[in-house]
Amino acid sequence: MPKLYFFFIYLMCRVRAGTEEGCPAFTGLSISSALTGTDLKVKLMLYTRQNQNCAETLSSAGSRYLNVTKKTILIVHGYRPTGSPPIWIQKAVHLLLSVEDINIIIVDWNRGATTLLYHRASSNTKKVAEFLKTLIDQMLADGASLDSVYMIGISLGAHISGFVGQMYNGKLGRITGLDPAGPLFNGKPPEERLDPTDAQFVDVIHSDIDGLGYREALGHIDFYANGGTDQPGCPQTIFSGSQYFKCDHQRSVFLFLSSLEERCNITAYPCDTYRDYRNSKCASCEAFQPMACPILGYYADKWKSYLTLKNPPVTKVFFDTSDKEPFCLYHYLVDIITWNKNIRRGSLIIKLKDQAGNTAESKINHEVATFQQFNQASLIAGFDQDFEKIARISLAFSTGSVIGPKHKLRILQMRLRSITYPERPQLCRYDLVLLENTEIIFKPIPCQNMQT
Ligand SMILES: *[C@@H]1O[C@H](CO)[C@@H](O)[C@H](O)[C@H]1NC(C)=O
Ligand SMILES: *[C@@H]1O[C@H](CO)[C@@H](O)[C@H](O)[C@H]1NC(C)=O
Repeated sequence: MPKLYFFFIYLMCRVRAGTEEGCPAFTGLSISSALTGTDLKVKLMLYTRQNQNCAETLSSAGSRYLNVTKKTILIVHGYRPTGSPPIWIQKAVHLLLSVEDINIIIVDWNRGATTLLYHRASSNTKKVAEFLKTLIDQMLADGASLDSVYMIGISLGAHISGFVGQMYNGKLGRITGLDPAGPLFNGKPPEERLDPTDAQFVDVIHSDIDGLGYREALGHIDFYANGGTDQPGCPQTIFSGSQYFKCDHQRSVFLFLSSLEERCNITAYPCDTYRDYRNSKCASCEAFQPMACPILGYYADKWKSYLTLKNPPVTKVFFDTSDKEPFCLYHYLVDIITWNKNIRRGSLIIKLKDQAGNTAESKINHEVATFQQFNQASLIAGFDQDFEKIARISLAFSTGSVIGPKHKLRILQMRLRSITYPERPQLCRYDLVLLENTEIIFKPIPCQNMQT
């Protein structure tokens, strides 16, 4: 695991100071704590609409703000190798309280999660879960119901949530796992990790399955962002500092939070593999009729009854995102029938323009497509903007080679259809010749027939 190894070297080169605030704050530790390691100490910080900006520390002495007849969301963080507080806390509290009048309990186990030795943090997960059981038992004694307990667990926190859920025989309302931790958990049996039997509904977002995240499906529904590996906008080299290590992993948190803003929906498509999804084999939402395909994030529980009744109750869904908030891409299928005598392999860059001249470019680096005479190649293209009316389409074809002759791609028919909005008219163009690396711009026309 070279990524983790480099991470330690990076940490050694860095010193960080803690912070102090008036209201109870998340434990701020420094790199020196990470070097010596920390003993487990769990702190519970409650936020409600009555105290949005100033947490109340929960203790056995009782609470001024906790109302157990309301829904309670516990947010559990993961491994904290630098000791610094998570950067998403305020945003998560603010957004969740803006959509629902609930109790939010931030579970601060920074002492215990902060250590250079990941396995030490990992070995504390069951102890944190036992601590949380005493909290939930107390809430139940005060009149709360398990149905209204919802845990959001990040990285190691996802497995902690799973352990808590297991202690209640899966009767917790919901668990959301945000890039559940992979190292030391990959391949473990269900009782040693998060699994669908841990709550009435378990949804998971994967964003770093080749690094800090868990590869396989763990919930009733597992959302794989950009295939679950490299996230757009995240640095690809170690020279970018700490972002290189955590950006992919953290993306799951920002994707989830973005769903609370409801600026756009991230729709995900059921598929066996990302490869099949990229090859546009999975653009159908028929399985979910009369509903549409599932939407990632807070509102994914709208699909709960379908997903939990399915046998087995496991669904993997895939989607691509843009590189920044709100991360949504609008997906189109581009079907191309060519009449070249020779098979051509290459990629297409597609741009859409609206009447006002705004341009959306397909940001996806296609796998090289194969264009074969009188065969249809179907490509999936994601655009970060959506135009209801497309005035112009631009196409450029590239084989990727910079030397040698320029190839031509002769297109008999190209058709563009929105997957995001399948009811929209399909747009076509017939008889085009693309010269390699030369952009052509044309006005699309309604397709003459709708056969696929
Ligand atoms: C607790 O919440 C319930 C449901 O929202 C509400 O009816 C009740 O008045 C609240 N209790 C207090 C003490 O605020
Ligand atoms: C997102 O999807 C929901 C249906 O689940 C719909 O009500 C809402 O209008 C959609 N939001 C946007 C911005 O398209």
